[in-house]
Amino acid sequence: MQVFVKEKTLKKRISYLKSKGKTVGFVPTMGALHDGHMELIKASKKKSDITVCSIFVNPTQFNNKEDLIKYPRTFERDKELLKNEGVDIIFYPTAEVVYPKGLDLSVDIDLEGLDTIWEGEFRPGHFKGVVQVVKRLLDLVDPDYLFMGQKDFQQFTIISMMLKKLKISTELVVVPIHREKSGLAMSSRNVRLTEKFKTKSLVLSRMLRYIKDNYRFDKIDEIRQYALNEIIKEGLKPEYFGIVNGNTLQEVKSRKEKYIIAVVAAWAGEIRLIDNIIISK
Ligand code: PAF
Repeated sequence: MQVFVKEKTLKKRISYLKSKGKTVGFVPTMGALHDGHMELIKASKKKSDITVCSIFVNPTQFNNKEDLIKYPRTFERDKELLKNEGVDIIFYPTAEVVYPKGLDLSVDIDLEGLDTIWEGEFRPGHFKGVVQVVKRLLDLVDPDYLFMGQKDFQQFTIISMMLKKLKISTELVVVPIHREKSGLAMSSRNVRLTEKFKTKSLVLSRMLRYIKDNYRFDKIDEIRQYALNEIIKEGLKPEYFGIVNGNTLQEVKSRKEKYIIAVVAAWAGEIRLIDNIIISK
């Protein structure tokens, strides 16, 4: 496994590998890796000859400075995990490498409102930062495949739109949510849940499942309201709970619509959790 920090050495290695006919899979991360990330790595290793994983805590996607400072940085541990999983290249750039002075890296595309609803409403500017960094990382790594988790469904949808609008030929592959045995969606935040909220937060996956099971039979608004009430009863503080069209992220109006997702974000004590379920494709 090789670790590159600089643009030049990374690009040289990747263009060499590509000249030998190797396909490149790319998993962008901000480190603090967990089993959910490892599923992305596994998916990449299955589909690509070479797997590149980046570790970069991107300052432009944090709307809260405190959050950026507190974000866990666990490079040595991450490196060990990636080595054990058989990653070929870690890209571990500094902010100067990703955002060199004097280079305009703004991405000027209309996200058609995908970035301002749900997560976007509570984290203003977040998705603009995500789009900017993913575009920059794609320029640097130039992968054939990009692997992202279904857990961050809105992020995946926005990046999919970006790839289309900028006519980037990298294929986006979505990897299903990896759950703990209890049903809780894997996240680096889970370790910070108190014992009490570890149990209480299971209501999220339970209610998503409930929505999926009852979607065909009951009124959409009624099942949504029931699920929301159950989450509140359990002591969580929901920020949103939507049953949405997976392409537009707008709330579903009729059951005739296809590609339906239920999305939720809620505070479990001090910890903000997100989760989702695909109801129909
Ligand atoms: O999902 C994440 O960890 C980040 O948003 C990403 C895609 C690595 C961009 O910084």
